[in-house]
Amino acid sequence: MGTYFYRLRQKTREIGLANLVKAGASGLVNRALRLIYRFDPWHVSGTFHSRPYKAKVVDMINARKPDCVVEIGTGLGDLIGRVSSAKTFGFDLDPAVLKAARWLLPRTSVLAPGNFQEPDGIIATLKQHNVRQIDCLVLVNWIHMIDFDTIERSIEMIDRACPIRSILMDSIKAGADGYRFHHSEIEMKTLGRIVQTRDGDETRTLVMIERGP
Ligand SMILES: C[S@@+](CC[C@H](N)C(=O)[O-])C[C@H]1O[C@@H](n2cnc3c(N)ncnc32)[C@H](O)[C@@H]1O
Repeated sequence: MGTYFYRLRQKTREIGLANLVKAGASGLVNRALRLIYRFDPWHVSGTFHSRPYKAKVVDMINARKPDCVVEIGTGLGDLIGRVSSAKTFGFDLDPAVLKAARWLLPRTSVLAPGNFQEPDGIIATLKQHNVRQIDCLVLVNWIHMIDFDTIERSIEMIDRACPIRSILMDSIKAGADGYRFHHSEIEMKTLGRIVQTRDGDETRTLVMIERGP
């Protein structure tokens, strides 16, 4: 019990009381959706208001006034659901979490299963919706599981079909344990020009990369 209150106090210090209340409310909604769809428990507690990096990601994307945003690894759609863009696409490996996300996002957001490592399905869906250009490709809070050669290869495949203007991804800070890959800025520079970096949270830095001609 003592540990519970200690953690609650720490979290209130980190995100503030208002966000704690909002996080509690979305946690309840996500818990109910999980009872139906049985998706990964991470999504229950990793809500928009409990994870400060999410609002920063949304701000970084919206500042670019994009027309088309594609997020791979979208989960419950906390990020694309808050992006002010005419066209939003959310892809995820897990069809169960997408079924739950469908309740939370506007109908205009396209949600479809897709695997970043084998992006043919993602490309087919984008073509089906006549996407000619991706203004921002978002790869956040899972890309640390993928080696950089694979990241480069999948991005090239998507880019050949639908040119990508910018990529927003996270790099894991040195010293953060338990992550398979950290992805340095040196590696990210192979994808394009780094135009913005922002502290996401204690674990991650958010990096915006612009792709040139
Ligand atoms: C921790 S959640 C993050 C969700 C969202 N990006 C956010 O930050 O709110 C990671 C999501 O990425 C998905 N994922 C992991 N590997 C993937 C892959 N290779 N292709 C597509 N989605 C993937 C998982 O199924 C999970 O829903």
